[in-house]
Amino acid sequence: LSQIEIKLSDIPEGKNMTFKWRGKPLFVRHRTEKEIATEAGVNLAELRDPQHDNDRVLNPRWVIVLGVCTHLGCVPIANAGDFGGYYCPCHGSHYDASGRIRKGPAPLNLEVPSYEFLDDDTVIVG
Ligand code: FES
Repeated sequence: LSQIEIKLSDIPEGKNMTFKWRGKPLFVRHRTEKEIATEAGVNLAELRDPQHDNDRVLNPRWVIVLGVCTHLGCVPIANAGDFGGYYCPCHGSHYDASGRIRKGPAPLNLEVPSYEFLDDDTVIVG
């Protein structure tokens, strides 16, 4: 299927769930208030691939990204690494809770697919 429908109330706050979409892992993360505030406050000058959190989410509560490390394509681990977002164990790339690369060999942020919210509880990706 080229589109996937995700029911957001199945994902508890603070958790990341992995779906399969177009043959790739898709991460949907329900951020905490603390994560939202932390990522909104990051100084873009510190970033390798500078992007404001606002430009990566439609609703700050939900981060939706491909679970494909931009180094060589491994699947990062959620809620791990030095920046509390994702950690890729293949060669040690650390991503924040916006999916932005913060440390390690990966060159780019985790990719944000196109998606839309149908209502408060339903997102369609693709
Ligand atoms: Fe993720 Fe190399 S594939 S760090």
